[in-house]
Amino acid sequence: MANVLVTGGAGYIGSHAVKALHAAGHQVTVYDNFSAGHREAARFAHSVVDGDIHDTDRLRRALRDHACESVMHFAAWLSVGESVRDPAGYYRNNVLGALAVLDAMVAEQVHSLVFSSTAAVFGNPVETPITEDHPKQPINSYGETKLAIERALPHYERAYGVRAVVLRYFNASGADPDGELGEDHSPELHLIPRAIDAALGRDTFQIFGEDYETPDGTCLRDYIHVTDLADAHILAMDSLRSGGQSATYNLGNGRPTSVREIVDAVARVTGTPVPLTVGPRREGDPAVLFASSDRIRRALGWKPRYEDVDTIVRTAWAWRKDRPSGYRTPQGTAR
Ligand SMILES: NC(=O)c1ccc[n+]([C@@H]2O[C@H](COP(=O)([O-])OP(=O)(O)OC[C@H]3O[C@@H](n4cnc5c(N)ncnc54)[C@H](O)[C@@H]3O)[C@@H](O)[C@H]2O)c1
Repeated sequence: MANVLVTGGAGYIGSHAVKALHAAGHQVTVYDNFSAGHREAARFAHSVVDGDIHDTDRLRRALRDHACESVMHFAAWLSVGESVRDPAGYYRNNVLGALAVLDAMVAEQVHSLVFSSTAAVFGNPVETPITEDHPKQPINSYGETKLAIERALPHYERAYGVRAVVLRYFNASGADPDGELGEDHSPELHLIPRAIDAALGRDTFQIFGEDYETPDGTCLRDYIHVTDLADAHILAMDSLRSGGQSATYNLGNGRPTSVREIVDAVARVTGTPVPLTVGPRREGDPAVLFASSDRIRRALGWKPRYEDVDTIVRTAWAWRKDRPSGYRTPQGTAR
């Protein structure tokens, strides 16, 4: 079993990976500055270090103190719109921050990394499904920052021996099927929790454009369950630990799902129609984005367990219903 440092392990996807690591018998140290994460979300960690990824000394101490041999690097900012308004902040946190993590790993001779990347590295798709070799032309600084680190990694391997698996997630969604973890972003930007909040009467909901060249006119996206993402991280780390090579994988369901289909699923699952308005298209939203994940299926035997849209929405709904204010809801008080 491994000692693993998980940066951003108090966040949405990181916390689910920490739970999966814990369940597989690994010892996890969460390293997070709690700017967007939640202490309760890190509950499956063996230890928690309150630190910023820019603090290389603190990172080094954490790696040393907990004898870590692998790192999963989730900590980053991830709002596309914000990255357009504040590229400097995004380059600082996502590029300089990731380089500081790599510096600490090199200094402490930790040579195995699983890196969270994103479908945003591709920009507007020239063909779908999107394979790993699809051209990379990000259209926002968020995608650029992730691509910059992807491009740095082979150089770090050549010079310092750091092997890395890059996982490019499409739309992370759903919540821990046991209801112990879920999505709690503030503000919430993702479609499924926002549609659920609208069904609960807690928020308004707008569809951005229904005049796309898609079957129902709304955008098609690829929703991948957060627990399936967590599984992929374990497989990726295991492959590196058993001597496997560095690799890059797309992670999606491979099923394009429209905004309307998500809204319909939320209505079905919650038993409540989603009140909504339809607005104009949003700049920079491609009509269709979905992944081919054949490479990771073949190479690592990864297989999503929660593919069906209703199942994904059901887990998100169970979490949201139980914890309407996310981790701020004292457990057992909401019904
Ligand atoms: N959510 C998605 O749909 C999605 C899609 C593609 C890629 N990703 C990537 O997955 C990763 C995790 O995303 P998420 O949805 O869990 O985000 P999140 O905001 O829930 O989690 C990020 C965590 O990192 C921490 N963090 C941020 N900056 C930090 C810093 N400087 N020092 C220490 N900790 C810091 C935050 O406190 C938070 O706990 C990110 O790298 C993101 O780019 C997410």
